[in-house]
Amino acid sequence: MQPSELTHQSSTSEPSASRTSGLAETKPTTVQLDTVTKVYGLGETTVHALAGVNLTVLQGEYCAIMGASGSGKSTVMNVIGCLDRPTSGRYFLDGQDVAQMDDDSLAHIRNRKLGFVFQQFHLLPQLTALENVMLPMIYANVTKEERRDRAVDALTKVGLADRLQNKPTQLSGGQQQRVAIARAIVNRPVLLLADEPTGALDSHTTRDVLGIFDDLHRSGMTIVVVTHEDEVGNQAERIIWFRDGKVVDR
Ligand SMILES: Nc1ncnc2c1ncn2[C@@H]1O[C@H](COP(=O)(O)OP(=O)(O)O)[C@@H](O)[C@H]1O
Ligand SMILES: [Mg+2]
Repeated sequence: MQPSELTHQSSTSEPSASRTSGLAETKPTTVQLDTVTKVYGLGETTVHALAGVNLTVLQGEYCAIMGASGSGKSTVMNVIGCLDRPTSGRYFLDGQDVAQMDDDSLAHIRNRKLGFVFQQFHLLPQLTALENVMLPMIYANVTKEERRDRAVDALTKVGLADRLQNKPTQLSGGQQQRVAIARAIVNRPVLLLADEPTGALDSHTTRDVLGIFDDLHRSGMTIVVVTHEDEVGNQAERIIWFRDGKVVDR
């Protein structure tokens, strides 16, 4: 080896340089829970719904959270979704420490960084599909024209370009859930959270919705889905199992 190469080698193998190049190959962390607990109630009725949860979701990952009823799935989902704060521990969302933010800050984070899909769709019945999808952008700083364009884009992504003017009652359950998914992604969230998204759907429609999650995942979306259905869990890249408020191997 030539002396010049040695010089070059030693300069790039400094701790700081190697750490930098290591980071460049690592995907950013979207969700990081460190020793998160959630305790409900006081005294004799205390429930440790989360008993020291460590959990990491990298950018672009598609994860399912599974486990028996009462194992803490909804509680951890509420924490990840900034709908509730941990009793103790740390939560970094997209690099930001959000564990002890006040309600207004959490609402802001939810609107800007997160998209939600629920079992019961939660669409506004008096609004069209297009209007439902435009709604989350009211708080974003975009013109009405751009809101419309982005809503049409999102509805096109979920295969509903021909249903823009339909109201929820004029759509099937699967179509309503697709509107809800369009609404969840229209603000370009860093994380899409789905709590039993296929719980109210038949098996055929379930496959439709899972196909959309696959498409979103391929396009780079980070997805965390809570489910008790094997078909849904197996579609994800990774299953995170919960038992008694903790993450377990299985
Ligand atoms: N608001 C609450 N008050 C008291 N206990 C609760 C509350 N929410 C959940 N729990 C309890 O916390 C534990 C975890 O509940 P949960 O997160 O809903 O589980 P899962 O979604 O896996 O069924 C359960 O023992 C449940 O009874
Ligand atoms: Mg639950």
